[in-house]
Amino acid sequence: MKHFCLAIGVLLMQMHSKSQKINIIPEPVDVIVKTGTFSLSSSTVILTDDKKQHNSVEFFNDYLNKFYNFKLKKSTSSKKRNYISLSIDSLNKSFVNDGQYSLSVTKDEIKITANSYKGIFYGIQSLIQLLPTQPAKFLSIPSVAINDYPRFKYRGMHLDVGRHFLPLAFIKKYIDFIALHKMNTFHWHLTEDQGWRIEIKRYPKLTSVAAFRNGTIIGHHPGTGNDSLQHGGFYTQNEIKDVVKYASSRFIDVIPEIELPGHSSAAIAAYPELSCFPNEPTVVKSKVSWNGPIRGKEVQQSWGVYPDVFCPTENTFTFLEHVLDEVIQLFPSQYIHIGGDESPKESWKRSAFCQQLIKEKGLKDEHELQSYFIHRIEKYLNSKGRQIIGWDEILEGGLAPNATVMSWRGEEGGIAAAKQHHNVIMTPGKYVYFDHSQSRTEDSATIGGYLPLETVYNYEPIPKELSAEESDFILGAQGNVWTEYMKSPSKVEYMIFPRMSALSEVLWSPKVKKNLVDFEARLQTQFSRYDLWKVNYSKAPLNIQPDIKK
Ligand code: ACM
Repeated sequence: MKHFCLAIGVLLMQMHSKSQKINIIPEPVDVIVKTGTFSLSSSTVILTDDKKQHNSVEFFNDYLNKFYNFKLKKSTSSKKRNYISLSIDSLNKSFVNDGQYSLSVTKDEIKITANSYKGIFYGIQSLIQLLPTQPAKFLSIPSVAINDYPRFKYRGMHLDVGRHFLPLAFIKKYIDFIALHKMNTFHWHLTEDQGWRIEIKRYPKLTSVAAFRNGTIIGHHPGTGNDSLQHGGFYTQNEIKDVVKYASSRFIDVIPEIELPGHSSAAIAAYPELSCFPNEPTVVKSKVSWNGPIRGKEVQQSWGVYPDVFCPTENTFTFLEHVLDEVIQLFPSQYIHIGGDESPKESWKRSAFCQQLIKEKGLKDEHELQSYFIHRIEKYLNSKGRQIIGWDEILEGGLAPNATVMSWRGEEGGIAAAKQHHNVIMTPGKYVYFDHSQSRTEDSATIGGYLPLETVYNYEPIPKELSAEESDFILGAQGNVWTEYMKSPSKVEYMIFPRMSALSEVLWSPKVKKNLVDFEARLQTQFSRYDLWKVNYSKAPLNIQPDIKK
């Protein structure tokens, strides 16, 4: 009988702890699940007398309002129960990590404590993930004690708005996705061969000409035809300021990317003198179906890498410096991304000007000329107090002295840069290119490749080739979202979810806590969260459901 009671007791406890299973992504550092629940409703108040908590309070209230149809009142006077308190405790010695917070839920109160406003914001994100995913008037929140902080300092998501322009409202939604995953960087890829997306007041043709193309190939490159539709758009400087402010209130840095010297066909279409061959018409790849006549330089209508790149003349440097002057006025981020990838050397090889410059500067070849180009831009941005990030091609011909390398063609570039004691952000195609298919049976057009959820989840950003000291140069990693085959916000959502959720755990959670089976189990709740948010997501990982052992 005694054993029987014990068994029943264990069973009840198991049932209880099962009902209390919490499903936070990314998995926090320490979680103690307790008994009991807090009931959150419109009568719950948020206690704060600190105006700087405004961001977190508003984010939480907006979330409640949007998905549960009620908001909480704020109060400064203490209460005995049914409240959420947010407090900064700068003397608390247990908060040693940047962004650290603690979250305690009992039946009477919810307390978020941190020594920074950022920490409070992350605590709010965990609280959001304790909410049931079905809207109700009374939301039951399990009692827990959480202590948490991020593993990596750079936790990024990139978005290419050059291949397809995406509306401002979606940019903000994307920033919310970043915030909800406790990520902290939005890499905004603003210029491409197929479109220039940032208003530069000094060069109006960048928006009147370079922001629009006359058509887009249909289907996979080289395409089965051309849709013959004008496509384009750009963000005004006021819109950009608004986005930066929106992101900043979510503790997210926005890093703009202005591509140089390659991927510059759109800028060249607006200002042909930026090319080494201003009078040559735009090169259209064979088999590509083009809409309309080719009148000199045109914005590209298909995907890939194009030979007409910025010519390293004084005129080009002046143009780029003027552009960057306006960019740095808009973006307060420490980093400006200057591209540097996929810049073919053939036009520089056949340009008498470039060959003379190579001689004059004592350079070995066109790779060293690219390095000269990047060094000059770095020097300019450093003189304005900013640092550059470049794709790993900037290693070729010699790395600019203070550059951070974004390693995309694999991990090798990142390893080489870290060994040279340069900061590195890992974005290797094999693990974090969210434009690749996430299922073997993908039926929408993608760029190709295969990147299932498990591969993202199992990614380790610190390569084993690096010593402990060199590993410190790996700032973190980022998911890259190239939009050749993503015309709409809903396709972007489909491509990022759920892989972005997996990446958030790679970047936030302690390495020792990573557990694919446990992640897959928590993902079931994450799918209901996506449903609550009404976002599109790939159901491909549902096929792996039978593998879930829990
Ligand atoms: C890249 O994917 N070309 C950086």
